[in-house]
Amino acid sequence: MPVKPIEWKNRKLNILDQTLLPQKTSYEQCKTVKDVFNAIKILKVRGAPLIGITASYGLLVALCEKGMKDTDNMLSIIKEAGKYLQSSRPTAVNLEWAVKRMIKKAESCDKNIDTEEFFSVLEKEANTIFSEDYAMSENIGKYGSELIKDGSTILTHCNAGGLATSGLGTALSPLYSAHEQGKNITVYADETRPLLQGARLTAYELANAGIKTILISDSMAGFVISQGKIDKVIVGADRIAANGDTANKIGTMSLSILCSHFNIPFYVAAPSSTFDLAIQSGRDIPIEERDSYELKTFAGTQTAPNEIDVYNPAFDVTDNSHITAFITDKGLIYPPFEENLKKVISDK
Ligand code: MRU
Repeated sequence: MPVKPIEWKNRKLNILDQTLLPQKTSYEQCKTVKDVFNAIKILKVRGAPLIGITASYGLLVALCEKGMKDTDNMLSIIKEAGKYLQSSRPTAVNLEWAVKRMIKKAESCDKNIDTEEFFSVLEKEANTIFSEDYAMSENIGKYGSELIKDGSTILTHCNAGGLATSGLGTALSPLYSAHEQGKNITVYADETRPLLQGARLTAYELANAGIKTILISDSMAGFVISQGKIDKVIVGADRIAANGDTANKIGTMSLSILCSHFNIPFYVAAPSSTFDLAIQSGRDIPIEERDSYELKTFAGTQTAPNEIDVYNPAFDVTDNSHITAFITDKGLIYPPFEENLKKVISDK
């Protein structure tokens, strides 16, 4: 089991600061809703499912911070905090999904229950979001590992592992399961510029689990695939539209095109909470743009002229035509995606 990225205990939210990995394993308490917002914004907690889980506990933090006068007041506190937290990162739909689910739960409560009871209903809902995510990642591992043969080499991008979910991850979960089943696998991890989630987090997680991992820079992927070293690519997702277009970490789209060109299967692993069937295509997915600082510096050292213009989108959109299948908690989903996603995912 990888290191725990989040813990809710005795009404306190502790998060692992992922910006310090792999050098330092350091937890900190988010005491205010602003702390939760900042933790998500600067990627102390990151990865679509984990952002959703963090936001649901973030609403409990807001209640503890602002007091619990009466249930009407508590409902307005979580609505306001939910709106604020949702503005921290726009691309991963899990954040919006988790906040909406918590608010819906709050609204369904009997108006006459006391504030303590109201709080425990919401606490239970956040814990359910956490444990359902754990179970979804286990199922993704189960279904995805069927695709992985003994001796396979898999390439992945960014970090869609235990550090991005409450369980073993999405893209990495099938790899953990295959390894557990005794299959001998090798994983190529893209370093994932500019924030190095592949080098700092994926390489760290997989190496700790004893899985043979080879780190490459993003620009090496095409050459490595052309050399016939890769059997398949598995990545995570931040939001998947009704037609299967998929937003994931910047660089994913290029990988999918490489896979089509070299005829390598390209899989997207994601829980039901990452599908947004309300939007028709990738054109409707909001793409987060991040600070220019991330491109003008490397490990705190300036690497570009101060005054240079920068474009820093954090995600890109992979066209559904480049996706072989989705590995979900409900099984593998093959094209035609429009039809099959609706059938399998619609009861999200
Ligand atoms: O910016 P990040 O680190 O939050 O981006 C994470 C990714 O792109 C992951 O691949 C995605 O969220 C899936 S995590 C299971």
